[in-house]
Amino acid sequence: MRQTLADNVIWITGASSGIGRALAVEAARRGATLILSGRNETALHETAALCAEHRLSGAPRLHADAILPFDLAAPNVRRQAAQKALGIFGRIDILVLNAGVSQRARFAETSPKVFDLIMETNFGSAVDLTRAVLPQMLERRSGMIVCISSVAGLMGAPLRTAYSASKHALMGFFGSLRAELYGSDVQVSMVYPGFVHTMISENALSGDGARHGELDPLQRAGQKPTETAHIVWNKLEAGALDIRVAFDFKARLGVFLARHFPKLFVRSISRHGGL
Ligand SMILES: NC(=O)c1ccc[n+]([C@@H]2O[C@H](COP(=O)([O-])OP(=O)(O)OC[C@H]3O[C@@H](n4cnc5c(N)ncnc54)[C@H](OP(=O)(O)O)[C@@H]3O)[C@@H](O)[C@H]2O)c1
Repeated sequence: MRQTLADNVIWITGASSGIGRALAVEAARRGATLILSGRNETALHETAALCAEHRLSGAPRLHADAILPFDLAAPNVRRQAAQKALGIFGRIDILVLNAGVSQRARFAETSPKVFDLIMETNFGSAVDLTRAVLPQMLERRSGMIVCISSVAGLMGAPLRTAYSASKHALMGFFGSLRAELYGSDVQVSMVYPGFVHTMISENALSGDGARHGELDPLQRAGQKPTETAHIVWNKLEAGALDIRVAFDFKARLGVFLARHFPKLFVRSISRHGGL
């Protein structure tokens, strides 16, 4: 049970945008040292500048934040990047598996390549980075792995077969790992955002891999990422294992109906065209 983020080394994937950027800035404000990852190096530098701007003045720190750009979808690249990340400050106290890509295409119209790309980016990468980082946490008997899932990790939704599958896979993987790690002092926490105002729908992939390019109404009306980050870190610092955030009435109703009234759920979600 960790009291504070101060002096922790935190590696955040998907730190170039949206929730990941907001988590980085809020962690910097609370005194953490960061390793920031994503593909867009320029955007990662912007995140680092925001972290520096918001960091509590006078907070003693041994190191400047580090930037580690790479493509999570490529297995060899991400495994090498994980070794690099471990070497930067000699340890990782908290791993935040936040990067993700969504989907806006029916299963029949999603090419196998795009389906696999979404699974690799959202799920395969989380397994590989955890495999790399976990041993040093176990050795030090201290650490936290935070996985950013989704409301689509708790229920299915049209146009998101790969996305929802990848997020459900994360729950199975980390739920099992959490049970294996019981008593080890390594905390595994899952975060299930409902709707947050980010680029997730614009960056979502169509069936042929093209960018969807539209801000969905639910994201437009969603919570500000800064608010999401504040809530998430407060709950993580308090030791929460499962965190639902930006979980409005629609998200709560959807998850409830999917679990208890599947026929009503499927009729209602297909009538409303999905999430
Ligand atoms: N916004 C919501 O309403 C919502 C709801 C539920 C769950 N989530 C989850 O929240 C997480 C963050 O998403 P967001 O909403 O902040 O969306 P976003 O603004 O689109 O951010 C996605 C992040 O993932 C990174 N990323 C994507 N593909 C990558 C790849 N191949 N290699 C490395 N990095 C990659 C992006 O970095 P680069 O482009 O620089 O590579 C970006 O920083 C995701 O896991 C998403 O599924 C979001």
